[in-house]
Amino acid sequence: MIDLKDVVKIYRTGGEELMALKHVSLHIAEGEFTSIMGPSGSGKSTMMNILGLLDRFDEGRYYLNQQDVSHLTSNESARVRNKEIGFVFQSFNLMPRMSLLDNVALPMVYSGISAKERKERALTALSKVGLADRVTHRPNAISGGQKQRVAIARAIVNEPAVLMADEPTGNLDSKTTLEIMKIFQDLNTAGTTVVMVTHEPEVAQYTKRIVSFKDGEIIDDQPVADRKTL
Ligand SMILES: Nc1ncnc2c1ncn2[C@@H]1O[C@H](COP(=O)(O)OP(=O)(O)O)[C@@H](O)[C@H]1O
Ligand SMILES: [Mg+2]
Repeated sequence: MIDLKDVVKIYRTGGEELMALKHVSLHIAEGEFTSIMGPSGSGKSTMMNILGLLDRFDEGRYYLNQQDVSHLTSNESARVRNKEIGFVFQSFNLMPRMSLLDNVALPMVYSGISAKERKERALTALSKVGLADRVTHRPNAISGGQKQRVAIARAIVNEPAVLMADEPTGNLDSKTTLEIMKIFQDLNTAGTTVVMVTHEPEVAQYTKRIVSFKDGEIIDDQPVADRKTL
């Protein structure tokens, strides 16, 4: 599913060079539920943005579903991303003027699906996250946890092979965090591969595998022994 080989990422700012990923290799098989942990500045978001084809890297290779996606043009990576990857951000990134239904339908606008089917699929995705009764609301009329559920619905509406999330519960209280983790667990049980960044050890206990970063390197990679289920 995900095969990252010897990836180096260097940020260059005003003559300064910072190696944010130092020859990182990682394999994630279909059906896994992995959390990426590590202190602030250790390279978690850099890693996630590369996995999500949101950023480029300097050395190494990235294979997604056997396809070499190391050096795609931005159009090509947008196309692969739209088809294979659902991405959830800490800050939800919803369109404030659009209804929840239109927010969720947005990733389908470029995939040649009829308006009627887009609506049906968006409704199905919103049902999966328990928000079928809120479809006409705007994002500012719902809670943070509900916003993140909408963002998850938007991320899964194209039925991606892998769902990626960078600190998806970072802005949420502990009760809402568990609601989000339950949705991820249910999606994973239904077959979606999930990769998420978290800095909270308790949250990682709901996943199946913990990959730990420090200073741009993977320093540990362990299955979760007594995984908690919701
Ligand atoms: N756009 C950027 N330009 C320059 N340096 C960056 C950029 N993004 C991140 N960094 C640096 O790269 C390192 C890793 O950052 P990041 O991946 O955001 O870590 P984490 O998500 O684990 O907190 C940090 O030292 C950070 O300051
Ligand atoms: Mg980060």
